[in-house]
Amino acid sequence: MDRFSISPNPVPTSPEQRAALTLDPRFGTVFTDHMVTLRWRAEDGWHDGRVEALAAIPFHPGNAAFHYGQQIFEGLKVFRGSDGDALLFRPRENARRMQRSAARLAMQCPPEDVFIEALEQLVLADAGWIPEGDGSLYLRPFIVADEVFLGMRAAARYLFCVIASPVGPYFSGGNRAIDVWVSETFSRAARGGTGAAKCGGNYAASLVAQVEAVERGCDQVVFLDAAESRWIEELGGMNIFFVMRDGEVITPPLGTILPGVTRDSVMTLASAAGHRVVQRRYSLEQWRSDAESGRLVETFVCGTAATIVPIGHVHHGAGRFAIATGACGPLTAKLRTDLQGIQRGRAADPHGWRHPL
Ligand code: COI
Repeated sequence: MDRFSISPNPVPTSPEQRAALTLDPRFGTVFTDHMVTLRWRAEDGWHDGRVEALAAIPFHPGNAAFHYGQQIFEGLKVFRGSDGDALLFRPRENARRMQRSAARLAMQCPPEDVFIEALEQLVLADAGWIPEGDGSLYLRPFIVADEVFLGMRAAARYLFCVIASPVGPYFSGGNRAIDVWVSETFSRAARGGTGAAKCGGNYAASLVAQVEAVERGCDQVVFLDAAESRWIEELGGMNIFFVMRDGEVITPPLGTILPGVTRDSVMTLASAAGHRVVQRRYSLEQWRSDAESGRLVETFVCGTAATIVPIGHVHHGAGRFAIATGACGPLTAKLRTDLQGIQRGRAADPHGWRHPL
């Protein structure tokens, strides 16, 4: 069964324009020629799947998504393998996480196989946009309510859409160590909230603290738990890992944080490299004293967009401390190389993470 009708963009970007646009794009600012759309309503489930020219989508101003925030999204990357093929990274994990996000926000989500087919169709239509070299094609599936009403109930119609953006590094300046600001005023999520869902509201709620971080010359904000304002949770858009001198690797436990696909991959890779990986609470106070005593030797953040990036300095209300020399540590560098080796088809794939097209 053909689930998606395909209407190629009648005015595709020329290869010359595409080359110029993908040379050094600022993250998330350039988009490919096509998008996927698929609609849901109770009477006929997911229907009207299309691959079509990227274009604005008209919405009635009374659409519930504008008012009550029923919106969820995903992010994953496609890499160009050494023989030119397109390699998606763990797309089924994104499909499953989107199902969980949808359940949390009382929304509908396409079944896993339909989600995967949507990604594959878009990548086939826009294969020429997968950057060579260090870049990748970032896929952004999202779902929004698509019903006109004002009132407190789950919408009865949804739009699933996938767009694609050729990207380079998330942080300007490439793979440098970043500085972070620990917010002790704002928290990202509380027990029973939406912290584990990938919904726009979580990111919107983090922005005021991100503004504070930028005002202090930092790249990102680190959130503490909502109950005690003590335990490190995650950054505005990525998970966090702490590396101890004895080789132990600590990352905050799941619950109120985003269950990152890169986070999960890093835990597997660090274990495979012989490290004891533990998911447990770790406080700001411990972080500072371990960094100052030398017990902590590295801290890095990870996410699909960010990949794996070291933290150099930590700024907080009472001052600032450095993570070792402030440069990228050896485990951070190794995990990044290992992850990218698998993603780009340069290394064996013992966990079956690559999804070639
Ligand atoms: C991702 O890593 O895919 C995200 O959605 C995070 C965002 C900061 C771009």
